[in-house]
Amino acid sequence: SEITTPPSLWGVPLKHISLVTLAIQNSTLALIMHHSRVSTPPSRAYSAATAVLMTEILKGLVSLVIAYLRVDHSSDGPQTAGLSWASKAKISTFRLRRLSNDIFSQDCWKLSIPAILYVIQNNLQYVAASNLDAATFQVTYQMKILTTAGFSVLLLRRKLCSSQWIALLFLAIGVGIVQIQAGEAQTVPATLAAVADVHTMHRLKGFLAVAAACFTSGLAGVYFEMVLKNTQGDLWVRNVQLSLFSLLPALAPLIFSHASTPAVDWLSALFRNFGLWAWATVAVQVLGGLVTALVIKYSDNILKGFATSLSIVLSFLASVALFHFQMTFTFGLGAGIVLGATWLYNQPPKRAGLLRARDSSF
Ligand code: C5P
Repeated sequence: SEITTPPSLWGVPLKHISLVTLAIQNSTLALIMHHSRVSTPPSRAYSAATAVLMTEILKGLVSLVIAYLRVDHSSDGPQTAGLSWASKAKISTFRLRRLSNDIFSQDCWKLSIPAILYVIQNNLQYVAASNLDAATFQVTYQMKILTTAGFSVLLLRRKLCSSQWIALLFLAIGVGIVQIQAGEAQTVPATLAAVADVHTMHRLKGFLAVAAACFTSGLAGVYFEMVLKNTQGDLWVRNVQLSLFSLLPALAPLIFSHASTPAVDWLSALFRNFGLWAWATVAVQVLGGLVTALVIKYSDNILKGFATSLSIVLSFLASVALFHFQMTFTFGLGAGIVLGATWLYNQPPKRAGLLRARDSSF
């Protein structure tokens, strides 16, 4: 059978680059997002909904440029070198028309489902990051491995071996232990905090947001993988479609919350308090979205879970250094179990390992 070399950059497989980038991106995001939310008093907080919308717009634009550059050049006919400006413009128009045909293809509606789920998830992430410290947020967010496995079995008919089911059980136990960690005292009572205009964290609210985000993460991720691997269509075109379908649900909360704002004041209302940290959060989110798409294409959602659990260690160390986060015994135990479970989950039986070697043409 034909042997295809996997795509690589400077000799390193793109699959490995994307997994490591995702691990670093994940821990950076948890820290920056948490800092951007808790470092200002509530009266000067930026709008999370605006951040979600900006992320989708920027991610969509980057994907659009890449998709345009990747439109099949061979179908242009003669090479463009030495052609007049008029001919070059004609060829560009031709490519744009092809790209728009690809984007508005008959099956583009399939992306509306993960798009809506991801917009909900991305908003929930801000709620979670505002109410949990970065390390706890990261560890509990690992529950998405559980939901991802569930949806992979249900929708992709993926088979899990017994050690993987055991790993999932340990994952749930580990996350449970992290949640009951001691020393979660809230220093200022909520009513007092409102008067004093300081940020307080509501752990239960944070955990509920994470739980809901895990559900959408699993479903959206597996659904996106299903569309990507079971249908034709370029990854970057799929990303543009995903961003396009995200625009309406991302705009909806902004329209409702600013219903009474005069149209001329709209932009300034949307970007109130939108400072450097908010833009940094958006930038890391954009990178995360693009890398996630690459990981889903070149690996799968399950390996993605492994990469993100690596990020727990990174964000934990950074939390200790930057936010004076104190490790309790229970946190260490819980985080250790989560990491061990992730490792166990990714020990594929020999046959499954062979089956996993799938085509990854770019
Ligand atoms: O936590 P999880 O890995 O599910 O997060 C996936 C993130 O990647 C979401 O923020 C989602 O919006 C983004 N994403 C993307 N493009 C894809 C797939 C996911 O921007 N094709």
